[in-house]
This record gives sequence, C-alpha cells and structure tokens, in this order.
Amino acid sequence: MSEVHPDAAAAGRAAQLRELLNHHAHLYYVLDAPELPDAEYDRLFQELQALESAHPELLTPDSPTQRVIGRVLDGFTPVRHAVPMLSIRTETDTTAGGAEAFDARVRRELELDADAPPVEYSAELKFDGLAISLRYEQGVLLRAATRGDGETGEDVTQNIRTIGQIPLRLTGEGTRIAVLEVRGEVYMRRDDFEALNERQRARGDKTFVNPRNAAAGAVRQLDPAIARQRPLSFFAYGLGELSGWTPPPTHGGVLDALAGMGLPVCADRAVLQGAQGLVNFHQAIAARRDELPFDIDGVVYKVNSLELQRRLGFVTREPRWAVAHKYPAQEQVTRLQGIEVQVGRTGKLTPVAKLEPVFVGGTTVSNATLHNVFELRRKGVRVGDQVIVRRAGDVIPEVVGRIPGPRASYVPNFRMPRECPVCASAVLREKGGMDHRCSGGIFCPAQRKQAILHFAGRRAMDIEGLGDKLVDQLVDGAIVQSLPGLYKLGVARLAALERMADKSAQNLVAALEKSKSTTLARFLYALGIRQVGETTAKDLARHFGRLDALMQASVEQLLQVRDVGPIVAQAIHDFFAQPHNREVVEQLRAAGLHWEEHEGAAADDAPKPLSGKTLVLTGTLPSLSRDQAKDLIEAAGGKVSGSVSKKTHYVVAGEEAGSKLDKARELGVAVLDEAGLLALLQGGG
Ligand code: IVH
Repeated sequence: MSEVHPDAAAAGRAAQLRELLNHHAHLYYVLDAPELPDAEYDRLFQELQALESAHPELLTPDSPTQRVIGRVLDGFTPVRHAVPMLSIRTETDTTAGGAEAFDARVRRELELDADAPPVEYSAELKFDGLAISLRYEQGVLLRAATRGDGETGEDVTQNIRTIGQIPLRLTGEGTRIAVLEVRGEVYMRRDDFEALNERQRARGDKTFVNPRNAAAGAVRQLDPAIARQRPLSFFAYGLGELSGWTPPPTHGGVLDALAGMGLPVCADRAVLQGAQGLVNFHQAIAARRDELPFDIDGVVYKVNSLELQRRLGFVTREPRWAVAHKYPAQEQVTRLQGIEVQVGRTGKLTPVAKLEPVFVGGTTVSNATLHNVFELRRKGVRVGDQVIVRRAGDVIPEVVGRIPGPRASYVPNFRMPRECPVCASAVLREKGGMDHRCSGGIFCPAQRKQAILHFAGRRAMDIEGLGDKLVDQLVDGAIVQSLPGLYKLGVARLAALERMADKSAQNLVAALEKSKSTTLARFLYALGIRQVGETTAKDLARHFGRLDALMQASVEQLLQVRDVGPIVAQAIHDFFAQPHNREVVEQLRAAGLHWEEHEGAAADDAPKPLSGKTLVLTGTLPSLSRDQAKDLIEAAGGKVSGSVSKKTHYVVAGEEAGSKLDKARELGVAVLDEAGLLALLQGGG
C-alpha cells in the first residue's frame, strides 16, 4: 500500500512544526532576529496545537506548546520572579465573536446564571513591545527584569533606567510601599522608530524590521550606552510581587493608583460591563488603531474585580480572567512576483514590489514600496521570494524583508534601468545620494502626470474631478502637455474622452474656472517646486506678498524667510531661474489665474493673535474640519504641528481625542476645545 496512513502524516507534520517553531522561537526570543511575522508564527503554532489536541499521543515534552519559550542570555544576570510573569490566552477570532466567547467562558467558570448581571471588565490596549517587571522598594527602582521564560528573566536594570518615562522614584503613596513590582510593556513609538531607522540608515547601520524588534533589541543590548540612544517608552499594566500595600479592589483602580504614583499608564482604557461593552471597546479602538502613535496587535480584557480574578485562577500559565483579542495582522508573508520602477513627480525612481495580493493591516495589498535600490539590496529580496509585507497606520505598504530559504533557480539581482522606463531619458544619481532620477523633467510623461495631479490636489488648486485616470488620458493622448494646457480644455474635448459624460466634463470645466481665483500660497505650493511644501509656500507668500518679488529674489533674500534654509532657498532660486518655469507661470497668469497681492512682510508685521504659537489638533471638532481649523490657525499667525512636545503651546481636542491629549496632560500643555480655539483666534482666551 503506497498511501500514507493519516496518523503517520500527522506525526510527520507535528514533528516538522515543532522543529520549525522552536527554530523561529530561538530567532525571535533569544537572538532578537525573527524571520517570520508574528501572524505566520501564530498560524503554525495553532496548527500544531490543533494537531496535538486531535492526536494527544503526538504531544511531546519538547513541544513549543508546552512551555513559555525564551532563554536567559549569557550576558545578563538571571532574575527569579517571585510572582511568575504570565502570558495571556489569545482570542484569534478578530470579530465581535472573540469578545463574546471570552465573556461566556468567564460566566461559565463563575457559574453565573443567564439572568445574573453583566461581569465588569477592564479593557486595555495590547501593546506590541516586550514585558518588563520593575521592582520598587520604598518607592525606589531597584531592579528591572525581562520576562524570560516567565519564571526567570534577565536583569536589564541598566538599560531600563535609560527610559525617561520610567520613574526612578515613585511619588505619593508609592514611596511608602515596602515592595511593589510593576509589570508593563516597553515599546517604541512609531515616530521614534522611523527616526531611529533614519539615523541607522544615514550611518550605514542595519535598520530594524519593526518597532517591537527595535525595542526588544534595545532592552537586551549589553551596552547601555547604545540602549540609551534607542528611544523607548513604557506603559504599566499590572502588578507582581507586593508587600506593605493593600491595592484597590479592582484592576482599573490598581491602574489609577499606579498612575497616581507617577507611572505611565495608557489612557486608552475603560471599565465596561459585559460582552457588549467589550465589543464596543474592540470596535472603537479598531477605528483609531492607525492613528495611535504606537503599534498594538489587539486589546486585552481583564475581569475587573481582583476578588473574582482570584476565584477564576489559572490554567497552566494563562489566567482565566484575561484574554487578548487580536486585530488583523499588520505584517503578512506573500510572494514577490515582480519589481517595477515608478517615476514620481520630481523624477525619483522608486522600485515597487508587485505582490501576490495579500490581506494586511485591513486591506488587500498588491503593491508595496521598496524605497530605493540600496534598501532593496540590503534586504536581499529577489523576484520569486517569499517576502514580509508591512502596512501599519496610513503609511504606504512596504516590503520589510524576505523569508530566508533556497531559491528555485538563479534570479539576477535587480538593477535600476539606465534609461527612464517612461520617457527613455538618462537616469542619474546625485553623488552620494540614494535616489535615482529621470533627467527628463517635465518632458517625461510620468513626471508631467504627477505634476498635474499635484497641481490639482485638494490643498493646491483644488480642482475637483481631475483624477489619475483622466490625467493618464490627457497626457498619453497629448491633449495636455503642461499645466497651462489644463485651462484650454473645453467641454466637447473632455466629453469625448473615455468614461467622461457631458455632465462630468461640464463639472470639470467649472472646477477649472473656479480654481483660477486662488491664493498666492496655494499657487506656489501647486507649482510643485522641490522642497516647497504647504507650510513653506505659506511662509513665502506671507514674506514676499507678490509673486514677482519672489521670482526675482536672490538666495540671500530667500534665506530671510522664516524656516527657509540654504537647500530650500537654492531649490526655489533654481526653479525660477529656469526660463521654462517662468513661462509656465506667465501662461497660467495669462489663463486668468489670480490672487490677492500685498506689499510683503513689512506690511504684514502687525502681531497676530497666534503669532509664534504652535498648536496640535486631535480628535473630531464639533463644527470645524481638520483643514478648516488648520487654515484658521495659520491665518492667525500660528503653526499646526502633528505631535505634542514641550514646545507645543495648545492642544485643541475634540471628540475621540487620543494619545495626543494624554501627552498634553502629561507635559502640562494647555488643552482647548473648539470654543476655546475660536476665542483664541478672536484674540481673546
Ligand atoms: S497583562 C496576566 N496587559 O502581552 C496577564 N499584557 O501574553 C499578564 N501585553 O508578554 C499580562 N499589553 O507583555 C497585559 N495591556 C496588557 C498588555 C499585555 C501587552 C503583553 C505582555 C505579555 C503578553 C501576554
């Protein structure tokens, strides 16, 4: 009989999975160099769990399902946890069903009747970092340890002390507690992670795959001087060993108490009733997941009453009173089918990965950026490879690496083309720069298309109805050759195009007409001058007042504009030095584009209500949109920034304001609502 016995197949697969999982666990926990995304690891883990429960005889003591993995590294002193550091059971059903299943289990374990009142829960975020136990004695931080295998971790006190958010001495009642072990998560904010990778790249050092790996690497860095350069953050979420303190009777109360002692506790948490409360929390956080300043992979529900927690107890190493409820993964594995080169507005050539479509971070992704040829080489990806795709927040999906493994056949390394794939102009690279550029300028249709799309953008000339499909037709059909050509378009010509009805053609012509009346700042931004974003365009418009004054300005004069440095000044000067660009400007003016001009900064020097002030917007305001609020603030002389720091003067918070509001409170920054903002704009407040 040649057919394999089903149990023999199961045994073979189980052995294979054990080996695979142990290998990846070692890479992940011991070496901090994972090759698999978590979701893939979890999938294999669950496959093994399922096999073992269907065939209990396959269970072996060395199965990764039988222990909490991780090993003490040679370089750190082992620390025994008097109270073990537990893990949490994961509810993988990412729908509302996950929350309902947990609540049903809790009610069953507590032997509650169907008509008993709902169970009260504490709901929190599941931070994607690594677990740390902080030991305070009489309020002084004496030791910090990693979780290790849950029983024994590593002493990482030196590195943890470098984390500014972690108090070296507690405040309030914390100072009087004999022993207080605080459990929580060390993590890295997304912006800190980006900045760190930027620095690593600039130095030619290796970049990190994701914030969690960067955080884990920093905590277990043997040289604390290096650890100090890695920007880490911390949130407390529970207790370990305790003596000399009677904690409040609920988990929510414990977290409040910890916050009261000066420990960072995430404000995105809630005390809720029953399954419905959990479902609402899961959904509310899902809606804001991309806006959070750090990665989470789910939420955590905990039975709020500590008394009920004691009654529920544990199964092996997982408490019955807590569960992690996941969200769809932000990293997935898929196959790299090809690499195409895209030409951007400034001619920059970007290698773009063509992927076997994969569901990641909530959408199906089939294209992902590979940034530039140097990044691509460093990651070592080649067509045909299994690659890891990451899509976190609203950032463009990217390929972060490949799953090592043999290749079916020799695949040549990717090379940047020497000629632009769109216009065949020479491709150039600035000395020492990372980027390749098409030298065709606006003669390159790809650049022309991007330039037109940018010009028409909402924050530029705001020409509604001029989308990429239409621009493709206009440029490819040689109907529009440059920006001024847009204003020669007539209804008949447009209506003859694919997918254009009379009505949409009329609407577009009306939108073009309407766009003619604009502001100097919008016009400057719309021109797409390199280095000139919206804010610089506004500063230039305010400073020079008149377009001709700006066009004639020397580099020295440009340097007088606030926030304009040598690189930006040179870019502006170079742009207007080109006769071709001047011609475009003249033709646009001839087509009827107009804006109000004034005599420049001198006449505009009267102090405005928000001159010199930096504001941060967060949440949804009752009547103003984000853009409207931004425009009002800028018109009043203020600046709008994306993140809260000590330099922020005001945070304007609306409905569903998140971590920016917490940060404001933490730093003591004034918080306003919409009415407060409006008062401030009037010069009151
Ligand atoms: S509580 C008894 N709360 O998830 C439960 N853990 O497997 C002990 N984690 O490595 C953990 N956010 O580091 C808890 N709000 C949170 C958490 C959280 C992230 C991590 C924790 C641990 C893993 C649990």
